[in-house]
Amino acid sequence: MKPWRDDASSGSGWGRERPSLTRIGDEAAASALSAAQIREAAGPPSVGIVGAGAVGTALGAAIHRAGWPVKAVASRDAGRRDRFLSLVPGARAFIDPLAVVDEVELVILAVPDDAIAAVVEPLRLYGGQAMVHTSGLLGSEVLDSARAAGSQIGAFHPLASFTADVERSVAGLAGATIAVEGDERLVGLLADLAEAIGGVPVRLPAGSKPAYHAAAVLASGGLIALLDAIARLGRTAGIDERGSLAIYGRLMEQTLANARAGGIAAALTGPIVRGDVGTLKAHLHALDGITPDVLELYLALARREVRIAEERGALTPEQVRQVTTALAKVV
Ligand SMILES: NC(=O)c1ccc[n+]([C@@H]2O[C@H](COP(=O)([O-])OP(=O)(O)OC[C@H]3O[C@@H](n4cnc5c(N)ncnc54)[C@H](OP(=O)(O)O)[C@@H]3O)[C@@H](O)[C@H]2O)c1
Repeated sequence: MKPWRDDASSGSGWGRERPSLTRIGDEAAASALSAAQIREAAGPPSVGIVGAGAVGTALGAAIHRAGWPVKAVASRDAGRRDRFLSLVPGARAFIDPLAVVDEVELVILAVPDDAIAAVVEPLRLYGGQAMVHTSGLLGSEVLDSARAAGSQIGAFHPLASFTADVERSVAGLAGATIAVEGDERLVGLLADLAEAIGGVPVRLPAGSKPAYHAAAVLASGGLIALLDAIARLGRTAGIDERGSLAIYGRLMEQTLANARAGGIAAALTGPIVRGDVGTLKAHLHALDGITPDVLELYLALARREVRIAEERGALTPEQVRQVTTALAKVV
C-alpha cells in the first residue's frame, strides 16, 4: 500500500488540471466562458451522491463540511432524503440516480456492492464528468458501462466503519485510510477529496482489494462478532453487555496496545501459548454445554493461536501435538 503523497504523480489534482466541465457537443459554449467562470471551474467539482445510506449520508455531510459543493443526492426513501438535506443544506434531492448525473461533475455511488452494477446500468456520463463507487472489494471497471468520451471512473473507499450514527461516522473519517483508484487524472482529485475530509489517501497494489477488504471485514464485523460471543459468555457469569464491554473491552485494548508495542506474535498470552492443555479442555467442555456456536469460534481462533505459538517457538513439538489433539477431539 502506498501513501498517496509519496507517489510521483501526486499533486496533479483535478482542481489544477481537470478536464472540461462542458458536456460533449458544448465545446462552442465553453470557449465563451468568462475569466470568473474559469476561476470557478478550477475549484472543487460539484458532487452528487447516489444512495443515502450509512456511507452516502456521512460522506455527503463530510464533503459539504470540507467546503466542496455537494449539489445533489438520490435516495428512494423520503426520510433519508430529508435527513441528507438537513445535513447538506442547499443540495437537491431526487429519487432517480439519473437526475444526480444531470446535476453534478463527480458522482459518488454509495450503494451496496451487489447493487452497483444494476444502479450504474442506466447511467451515462457526459464528457468532463466522473463517477466513483465506495466499495472496498470491487475495482472501478464495474462502472465501465457509464463511461463516455472524456469521462472518468474510479473508486473511493474509506477504511472506516459507517453506522446509522452520522456524526460518529463523519468523525471516524479523521485519519482514516482512503483507497483511491481510477483514471490517471481522476485519482489526483480523489486524493484531494480524501484529504479534504480528513482521510489519508493511498493506492493499493493491483489485485489486492479482495484481501485488503476481507481484512477490513475481520477488523470491524469480525470484532463485533467476537464481542458478541464474549458478551454471550459474560451473561453466563452474570455480566451484562455494558459490563462485558467495560471489563473485556479493557483487556482487548491492552492486548491491542501490546501488539502495537511489541508485535502481534509477542502479544499472544493465554493457555495455548503456555501449552496449558488442562485449561483448554475445561474451556471446550464448558462451551460445548453452554453455547456450541461460541465453541466453533473459540476453536477457529484457537487453531490460529497454535500456529502463532508454534512459529514463535513457544511450544515444544509434544505440546503442539497435545494442544492440537485436544482441539480436534471436540469437532
Ligand atoms: N458501512 C461501512 O462501514 C462501509 C465502509 C466503507 C465502504 N462501504 C461501502 O459503501 C457502500 C454502501 O454501503 P453502506 O454501508 O452505506 O450501505 P447502506 O447503509 O445499506 O446504504 C446503501 C444505500 O444504497 C441504496 N440502495 C440499496 N440497494 C439499492 C438498489 N438495489 N438500488 C439502488 N439503491 C440501492 C439505498 O439508498 P436509498 O434507499 O437511500 O436509495 C441504501 O440506503 C458499499 O459499497 C460498501 O461496501 C461501507
